[in-house]
Amino acid sequence: MGKIQCLFSTFLFYILLSFSPETGRGSGPMKACWGHPVLSTDSRWIVDETGRRVKLACVNWVSHLEPMLAEGLSRKPVSLIANRIREMGFNCVRLTWPLFLATNDSLSSLTVRQSFQSLGLLESIAGLQTNNPSIIDQTLIEAYKAVVDSLAENNVMVILDNHISKPGWCCSNFDDNGFFGDKYFNPDLWINGLTKMATLFSNTSNVVGMSLRNELRGHKQNVNDWYKYMQKGAEAVHSANPNILVILSGLSYDTDLSFLQHRTLDLSFTGKVVFEVHWYGFTDGTAWKSGNPNQVCGRIVSNVKRKAGFLVDKGYPLFVSEFGIEQKGTNVNDNRYFNCFMSVVAELDLDWALWTLVGSYYFREGISGFDETYGLYNWNWCEDRNSTFLQRISAVQSPFQGPGLSNERPHQVIFHPSTGLCVLRKLLTDPLKLGSCTGSDAWEYTNQKTLIVKGTYFCLKADKLGKPAKISILCTDKSTKWEMISDSKMHLSSRIDDGTTVCLDVEPDTNILITNRCKCLSKSNTCDPGSQWFKLVNSTASTCNEKLPFLSVKSIFDLLKNGWFENLLM
Ligand SMILES: *[C@@H]1O[C@H](CO)[C@@H](O)[C@H](O)[C@H]1NC(C)=O
Ligand SMILES: *[C@@H]1O[C@H](CO)[C@@H](O)[C@H](O)[C@H]1NC(C)=O
Ligand SMILES: *[C@@H]1O[C@H](CO)[C@@H](O)[C@H](O)[C@H]1NC(C)=O
Repeated sequence: MGKIQCLFSTFLFYILLSFSPETGRGSGPMKACWGHPVLSTDSRWIVDETGRRVKLACVNWVSHLEPMLAEGLSRKPVSLIANRIREMGFNCVRLTWPLFLATNDSLSSLTVRQSFQSLGLLESIAGLQTNNPSIIDQTLIEAYKAVVDSLAENNVMVILDNHISKPGWCCSNFDDNGFFGDKYFNPDLWINGLTKMATLFSNTSNVVGMSLRNELRGHKQNVNDWYKYMQKGAEAVHSANPNILVILSGLSYDTDLSFLQHRTLDLSFTGKVVFEVHWYGFTDGTAWKSGNPNQVCGRIVSNVKRKAGFLVDKGYPLFVSEFGIEQKGTNVNDNRYFNCFMSVVAELDLDWALWTLVGSYYFREGISGFDETYGLYNWNWCEDRNSTFLQRISAVQSPFQGPGLSNERPHQVIFHPSTGLCVLRKLLTDPLKLGSCTGSDAWEYTNQKTLIVKGTYFCLKADKLGKPAKISILCTDKSTKWEMISDSKMHLSSRIDDGTTVCLDVEPDTNILITNRCKCLSKSNTCDPGSQWFKLVNSTASTCNEKLPFLSVKSIFDLLKNGWFENLLM
C-alpha cells in the first residue's frame, strides 16, 4: 500500500476510533501500511524510532512440535487466524521454532505434506488441503515464512523464539534440550541456527525480536555458561540483524535472572537487550491452592521481584514471555495466581506474551488433536474458549506509562485484577462502577491516604456495610482514609462511622463498588479475596476526567435539584 493510502486509512481509523471507543485500543481496520517499527530500548521501556513506547502485548503461537508447522492451519486459513490475533487486541506473536528446523537441511526442505505424512497425520493433511492449499506443498521453512508474512499483513509484530532443539513438546529436565552441552544442545549448532534465522528474516520488518532460547534448565545449568553462551548468541543475532531486539531467558525454566543483580552482561552493543521471564500458577506447584491467597501472593510476588522484577529498576525491559491459566476457570490454583499476577503486570506495566493462542495441537506428546486447556481458541479453532478472558487482559494490552504516551499528568488508576476493569464514574450522581480502564478516572492517592479524583475536591468514601462506596467532598473523615492492607497489600480498607473496618469490594452482577467485611485476612486457605483485590497503577495514559460534568452549571443545578449535595454532606 502506498503512503497516501496509508495516511488516509490512518485517518479513517481515527474517525472510527472516535465513534467507537469500546473497540479502540489496539484493534481496528489497520493493515500493514505503516511499516513496522524498529524497536530498541530506552531504559526499561521498548520504544520505536521516534522514542515512543511500544508495549509488547503478544500471544504465543506454537510452531516447534514434531510437524514443525504453526498450529491450527488444518482448521483455518492462516490469514483468518492472523486477523483474529489483531482483533483480540494483540500487537505481536511469539512464534516458536525448533533449532533443527534451521540447522538440518533434510528437515527444513521437507514439505509440509511430507512432514505430516511421516507422522501419519492424515486428517490434518486433509484440513491443510482445504484451509491452506498454498502452504501444504511449501517447504517447512517457506511455510514458517508464510505465517510471518500473514502476520505482517495484519500488522502483527513477530518475535522468533527458539523454543527447543529437537522438535517436540517442551520442557523437562530430562529431554536433553535443556542447557548448553546437552545431547541436543550443541552451542555451536545453536549459534549457527540463530544466525541463519536472524539472516533469513533480516528483511522482514515485522520480525522485531528474537528470543535466544526458551527455558534453560536441567542438571547442566550454571551461571558461568549462561554468560558465556548467551553473550555469544546475542552477538551472533545482533551482527546478523542489528535492528532486532535480543531477548534473553533466565535459568530454571526461565524463572530466575537473579544472577544479573551482581554481574552485568558484557556485549558490544547497547539498546537492544530485553530479558524474559516465565510465571505460571504451577511454577509454585499448588502453593496458591493450599495457602492463604493474601500470604501466597505477598510471598511469591516478592520472590518474582527478587528473581526478575528488579531488572526494570536496573533499566532493562522485562518481557513476561509465558503466563496463562486454564480457560475453563475451574482450576483454583490458576485462578488465585492469575489475580495476583495481573496486579504485578499492571503495576510494573510489563511487556508480555500469553500462553497460548493454540486451541489444539496437530500432535503433542504422542496424541493427535491434543486439547490445549490454556488456549484462547477452543479445540476446533472456531470459537474463543472463554469469552470473558480477553476482557480480563485487555486493560494490560495498552501501556499505562512510558515515553511519548500522552501529555496527561501522572496519576493513578484503580485496577481490579479479577475483572480486568478499573474504577470509574459515569455521572456524579451514579454509583461508582467498574468499567474499561481506558475510560477510567485519574485518581490520586494522597499522603493523607485519601483517594482523590485528580484535579477535584472529591474523594472516595466508605458509607455502610454492604452499600455502595460514595464520592464525598468532605475528605478528612476516617471513612475517607484508605489503607492498603494484608500480605498482598491489595485490600483497600477503611472504617465506616460505627467503627467497623471494611474493604472495597465489587457487587458481582452490577459491578458497583461497595464496601464489605474484609476477606481472607486470617490464615484460611479456603477463601478467595479476589473481588477485594485492587491495585493502584501509575499511569500517564489519557483519562476521561475532563469529560465529566463537574463544573458545568447545568449539572450542578441538576444535582441541587435532586438534593444530592445534602445527601453528600449528611
Ligand atoms: C537431520 O534430521 C534427520 C531426520 O530427523 C536425521 O535423521 C538426521 O540425522 C539429522 N541430521 C543432522 C546432521 O542432525
Ligand atoms: C535483504 O535485502 C538486501 C538489500 O536489498 C539484500 O542484499 C539481501 O540479500 C536481502 N537478504 C535476504 C535474506 O533476503
Ligand atoms: C470463563 O472464565 C470464567 C472466570 O474464570 C469462568 O467463571 C467461566 O465459567 C468460564 N467460562 C467458560 C465457558 O469456561
